Amino acid sequence: MRLLAIETSCDETTLSLMEASGGLRSPRFKILRHLVSSQVKLHAPFGGVVPMLAKREHAKNLPLILKKIFRNSKFAICDIDLIAVTVGPGLEPALWEGINFAKELAAKWKKPVLGVNHLEGHIYSNWITSVIPSVNQNPNFKKNKITFPAVCLIASGGHTILILMAALTKWKILGSTRDDAVGEAFDKVARLLNFSYPGGPQIELHARRGDEDTIDFPRPMLDQKNFDFSYSGLKTSVLYYLRDHKKANKNNIAASFQKAAFAPLIGKTIRAASTYHAKFVLLCGGVASNRYLRHYLAAAARSAGLSFHAPAMKLNTDNASMIAAAAYINFLQLQSVSSGKKHRRLPLRANGSLSV
Ligand code: KG4
Ligand code: ZN
Repeated sequence: MRLLAIETSCDETTLSLMEASGGLRSPRFKILRHLVSSQVKLHAPFGGVVPMLAKREHAKNLPLILKKIFRNSKFAICDIDLIAVTVGPGLEPALWEGINFAKELAAKWKKPVLGVNHLEGHIYSNWITSVIPSVNQNPNFKKNKITFPAVCLIASGGHTILILMAALTKWKILGSTRDDAVGEAFDKVARLLNFSYPGGPQIELHARRGDEDTIDFPRPMLDQKNFDFSYSGLKTSVLYYLRDHKKANKNNIAASFQKAAFAPLIGKTIRAASTYHAKFVLLCGGVASNRYLRHYLAAAARSAGLSFHAPAMKLNTDNASMIAAAAYINFLQLQSVSSGKKHRRLPLRANGSLSV
């Protein structure tokens, strides 16, 4: 099956052309084109994403990226079997731009269109391994062979959710953040430190030059038995520290903050995996781009006797290839409705607060 996927939930306009095959037991993906147009420069002066600006940029960029995706390709839009588009969660004005674009294409080319949950996209980004070499650090990992039960940590700018997967399409939420998402905390702390936007990668960069053991920031909720997280208190601790230590080394603050922020993610993910006898620990979402988190979560998984997998770098932050992967899996689920399994088709309507 050939899919054209569109993702405009936040400030990246992104399209993907993907070939997918296989059933729910072993779906296989081949990225033919993967295009991301970032609006970082546009939103940087505001220190965060401005929804109406994002919407306007998506409207401008979508037709241009569509042309680019088929340029010098052996495929044209008539060769597409399914159009996929993110319907939520995300910024509704931005989501609507992608949805309307997908609907117009579908009507013009008489193609089916499927709405996709952005968070499922992040989860299934772990199954796109065919084109990019796997970044898995466990030598026992075999391509496309993630086994269940698995624990998957979604760490992004809008979400911090720990799920237990019994199968590719069957999971339950074990815990989530009670206030800010971890990526949001990185962005807010970066702003406190006057780092450039977007903050997450800047904190990681500065942290590499700092000493992570200089400041003992709190490790929020690490010692609680549940699998929930909290980041607003940690952010406030950084604020107070800066107020009281005007000349403090920013690299040391970044490093100490990063260590404190990731301790509960790593600790609780591994604890959940042990509690539920998981075989695999999976990481995804924009924060999965952080090499410190990848390294220490992989190391903790390995020492607990678990396999670890995180998507290739370009699949962590928002992209349409992950939406194509989720669409294919949703499509297979819809097909198996006749064989008795339930799967709900998402309405082609922006839903800013859609959950997993
Ligand atoms: O998944 P994503 O692209 O968008 C959402 O769905 O939210 O995640 C974006 C988030 C931002 O908060 C960004 O600061 C964070 O991911 N992020 C990072 C890094 N790269 C992106 N956080 C920490 N370290 C990074 N290297
Ligand atoms: Zn995302």
